[in-house]
Amino acid sequence: MKLVVTGGAGFIGSCFVRMALGQRWAEHVINLDKLTYAGNLENVESVSSHPGYRFVQADICDAGAVEDLLKRERPDVIVHFAAESHVDRSIHSPAPVIQTNFNGTFTLLEAARRHQVGRFVHVSTDEVYGSIEAPHDADENYPLHASSPYSASKAGSDLLALSYYTTYKLNVSVTRASNNYGPYQFPEKLIPLMISNALEDKPLPVYGDGQQVRDWLYVEDHCRAVFAVLEKGRPGEVYNVGGNCSLPNLEVIHRILKATGKPESLIKPVADRPGHDRRYALTNEKLTRETGWQPLMDFDRGLAATIDWYRTSQDWVRRIKTGEYRQFYELNYANRV
Ligand code: NAD
Ligand code: DAU
Repeated sequence: MKLVVTGGAGFIGSCFVRMALGQRWAEHVINLDKLTYAGNLENVESVSSHPGYRFVQADICDAGAVEDLLKRERPDVIVHFAAESHVDRSIHSPAPVIQTNFNGTFTLLEAARRHQVGRFVHVSTDEVYGSIEAPHDADENYPLHASSPYSASKAGSDLLALSYYTTYKLNVSVTRASNNYGPYQFPEKLIPLMISNALEDKPLPVYGDGQQVRDWLYVEDHCRAVFAVLEKGRPGEVYNVGGNCSLPNLEVIHRILKATGKPESLIKPVADRPGHDRRYALTNEKLTRETGWQPLMDFDRGLAATIDWYRTSQDWVRRIKTGEYRQFYELNYANRV
């Protein structure tokens, strides 16, 4: 099988690329990535000399580049991870988010339709359901209620992807995963930011009261789910992917402080995120019933492995936490005091 993986230099896409080649899910993987601030070829260094691996630097919004790639490579499958993935950035600067997440997905779908790509997995998010009132969990029929430009762009792209099945019979499935964590995550997201700041004895900025709830999914569990949907998912269907691990943010932070041996005094309450969703919660029942997939990683074990990785990858973190990262960090946190 030959895969095109978009966004394969990012956090989750790079894990998928490493697993696809390492576990022989595919013989050939073409990693199509623009290398934005979040794309990093160090994340796929371990497979860079694999005979089945190729990297192509291109923007998914560039119809010509995408067409050329599909014409030349004739892949069996597109697995679409590429996105502007950070909610806070989408609040500060929505334009690139809409451009990549909506228009970029449109460009890929059009090219896939014209070149008759046999399978398309569109990787999306539980954020499209918005905040879910306890004790309910969202299933795939839960109404869409996007709160940020990021979640609206993902909800729009989900609907577009599904319309390509309904209208053109393109073999599309959509996955909606909860919050991922694990190695190689860009340290702007909650868990890697808190780990890397704690390791550097820097303040841990907690938005609002810190009681917002997220469902935590280990990145390898997510990648196995995407592959399960690729293999066994039905066209035109949506599959939730949750980690069965709902925790308030402050609880996650307390566990990070405990595991790193750092004091609670590092916690620094800051102003809340505008439009902040209070609670995400999913049921995985459909994915488990149809594919047999289940999350395997226990949260404390996954968190310990993640902390170990950041502890031993401080050069990776240091290289990222310069230049553009610093500018965004200062902008994002300056107004929150
Ligand atoms: P990430 O920000 O770490 O990586 C995104 C990758 O996409 C980067 O390599 C970047 O260079 C690339 N990219 C961005 N714009 C591009 C463009 N125009 N053309 C080509 N490449 C481009 O993101 P992530 O956290 O790995 O998320 C991957 C996907 O999973 C996204 O679609 C996101 O919405 C979805 N998702 C993420 C999470 C999470 O917790 N991180 C949870 C559920 C779903
Ligand atoms: O739910 C899936 C989504 O999870 C993905 O679609 C997104 O790509 C991914 O970024 C993530 O979105 P969140 O907004 O939930 O993740 P983030 O790590 O930014 O924030 C997690 C929670 O932690 C959220 O309630 C906001 C809070 N937070 C975050 C940061 C960065 C803080 O309290 N302080 C912070 O500094």
